Amino acid sequence: MPDLSIDFCGVRSPNPFWLASGPPSNTAYQVMRAFDAGWGGAVWKTIGEPIINTASRYGSIDLKNERMIGLNNIELISDRSVEVNLREIAEVKKRFPKHTVIASLMVESKQATWHDIVRRAEDSGADLLELNFGCPHGMSERGMGAAVGQVPEYATMITQWVKEVARTPVIVKLTPNVTDIAHMAVAAKKGGADAVSLVNTFNSIVGVDLDNFAPRPAVAGRGSHGGYCGPAVKPVALHMVSSVAKTVDIPISGIGGIGNWRDAVEFMLLGSTSVQVCTAAMHYGFRIVEDMIAGLDNYLEEKGFASAMDLVGKATPHVDDWGNLDLNYKIVAKIDAVKCIGCNLCYIACEDGAHQCIRVDERPQGDLRHGVNLRHVPVVLEDECVGCNLCALVCPVPDCITMAEIDTGRPHMSWKQLQEARGKSPNCSMEELLAGGK
Ligand SMILES: Cc1cc2nc3c(=O)[nH]c(=O)nc-3n(C[C@H](O)[C@H](O)[C@H](O)COP(=O)(O)O)c2cc1C
Repeated sequence: MPDLSIDFCGVRSPNPFWLASGPPSNTAYQVMRAFDAGWGGAVWKTIGEPIINTASRYGSIDLKNERMIGLNNIELISDRSVEVNLREIAEVKKRFPKHTVIASLMVESKQATWHDIVRRAEDSGADLLELNFGCPHGMSERGMGAAVGQVPEYATMITQWVKEVARTPVIVKLTPNVTDIAHMAVAAKKGGADAVSLVNTFNSIVGVDLDNFAPRPAVAGRGSHGGYCGPAVKPVALHMVSSVAKTVDIPISGIGGIGNWRDAVEFMLLGSTSVQVCTAAMHYGFRIVEDMIAGLDNYLEEKGFASAMDLVGKATPHVDDWGNLDLNYKIVAKIDAVKCIGCNLCYIACEDGAHQCIRVDERPQGDLRHGVNLRHVPVVLEDECVGCNLCALVCPVPDCITMAEIDTGRPHMSWKQLQEARGKSPNCSMEELLAGGK
């Protein structure tokens, strides 16, 4: 049986699946039920001076039949008092000593205020602290959240204040609303952060009411930008995790659109030790973790990994600069005439949106022996095909269009190597250089 437990900054968690700070981790009642369901840890809904929230807080984007592929919120931090939240953290730790409870904190940017909240959070028995430098709305206008996370000097300074008194490891939660998130991770590390978590939510407006012109979600006809998350943000979050992992040597807790074990494994392969989930738990409830645990367990077993920790950063060396990619690698599209339903989407996409390498045969093709109607099957002009994948991406039939590797017989030649070769042989044509000529 593979070992699903992880070590995060010296804290052992039964598995890498943590609830992210948000509505699902707002109370002891919820966190205890989440732990009973199988979650290994929970980052408490951010604790600070309690605030007043608006009614109408969430807006979302649907995609055809799939609801809430992107979620936007204008909710702020916990609206419950610091005392109540910390007392409940203590209760949870008492009942679940082996589970990981992380206190998420956000207070005014004053040294004494940070010292005070850190001491109180640690007294509650929280295993780790997460500094919320990320909320993009409301709190940032009050000089907290993203207002700190967008200025490296502030992030370093506040992390230093926290580290002056903290006895437990400190995670800095980063905002994605910056030009280069790796730069902010460097700033956090400089301040003494033991780990970083990313991403918090993205600045967004999910829509506008066409009748009354109010952005969604609207509060009495007015709206404000909010934080975007859920499945729609996963690719951007994955890139950010990968970028931090390649730049800074620091443990990462990955967040952003994780909804199943596959998403979680991708985040781990790109450098996350733990993964955090908010939107998927809000959408489908705590029991999604059962599939996550079973899926991770099977995957580790199948791939021969003894421990979940073995996955961390396994894909990082495969993420390379564009300039190192092999320009002589060639693939072309192959269309399975039996599977093709003759919708011609590949032809239209290639003709109008790509490289004009597919033609539709005048003669209907097909094989009545397979019970397939005769129809016009698109044909790939292999010599013209640039291997862009667009036809395979738009094709509605699984495995009907596949990309096949063509052996060009040429050596590996990256753009960087090509530049070198050009310097040495300025009279050679690009084609000769690609073919490996001197
Ligand atoms: C309604 C809502 C409230 C949130 N509140 C907090 C919060 O109090 N503190 C915090 O650090 N992040 C908060 N988040 C951000 C999440 O922790 C997480 O970083 C983000 O939603 C991305 O993860 P996801 O795609 O799994 O939702 C909140 C997210 C949502 C949707």
